[in-house]
Amino acid sequence: MTLNTVFIEDALVTMSRMKKEVDLVLTSPPYNSSRPSASDKHNRRYDVYKDSKSDTEYIKWTIKLFKAYHRILKANGVVLYNLSYSSDNPALIHLVVADIIRNTPFTVADTIVWKKPKAMPNNKSANRLTRITETVYVFCRKKELKTFKTNKKVVSLDKRTGQHNYENLFNFIEAPNNDYSNQLNKATFSSELAMKLLDIYAPGPFSVVFDSFMGMGTTAKAALRKNLHFIGSEISAQQVEQFEIYKEGLPNAEKRRYKIEKILNSLELDKVVQNKGATEKLTI
Ligand SMILES: C[S@@+](CC[C@H](N)C(=O)[O-])C[C@H]1O[C@@H](n2cnc3c(N)ncnc32)[C@H](O)[C@@H]1O
Repeated sequence: MTLNTVFIEDALVTMSRMKKEVDLVLTSPPYNSSRPSASDKHNRRYDVYKDSKSDTEYIKWTIKLFKAYHRILKANGVVLYNLSYSSDNPALIHLVVADIIRNTPFTVADTIVWKKPKAMPNNKSANRLTRITETVYVFCRKKELKTFKTNKKVVSLDKRTGQHNYENLFNFIEAPNNDYSNQLNKATFSSELAMKLLDIYAPGPFSVVFDSFMGMGTTAKAALRKNLHFIGSEISAQQVEQFEIYKEGLPNAEKRRYKIEKILNSLELDKVVQNKGATEKLTI
């Protein structure tokens, strides 16, 4: 697959063309948290995507994604999955994770708490807390629970047992909410968060990071800064264009590494989801 490219299409379609070529997945899917009534563009979280499947559809779709991750992820790679929930439906996130564990080769290896500096006040609710953290789930394959890769360093050797002692890396990351706020996507994460995660999990320089929901390109920016390769999918051409504009400001060497391919025909999401060829390839 062409590296350092964001494909403007459904992530499942991108993954159907990929081989086992990805060292890690770092992504934040839509949380299925828009109210169905949020038809007005200004109240929606995303410019193109309507984030309001039924719970059953959302879970089924997540399972398809994880089966596709299994197909493209190299041995001992991880899926870093930033997931949150709406106040209306706080249980969904747990149902999703349980179904991933039950119905795919993946399990939860760790959960990382991302603490943001700012939170939306929750002054209208008498009982719900104001959420200032989100979770990043670290999924590994069940059979790789003891071997999946991190960059934890050995700090000493126990002479008596011959065992390694490793440094502490804490499952708590403080990082900004986003790089900047914008009207196209109100659910971006920050490149600082992405870089901290890549520091822990990217196996080495020029590792390949895949983001199935690239949004404004935050994962790609972080990957470029860390000297890693990226591949991404995003259905919003406008969001990808914003990343292209950012990229224009990069030094020439980085510009050369980056190429964007516009697959404009695949912009009609319904059409690509129904693409039989792609879904057949996803069957494991
Ligand atoms: C939570 S946002 C990702 C934000 C991203 N991490 C960033 O920092 O900009 C989810 C994104 O997924 C995109 N999206 C929704 N369904 C998609 C699909 N099937 N394939 C690819 N992208 C999709 C939405 O347009 C939205 O931009």
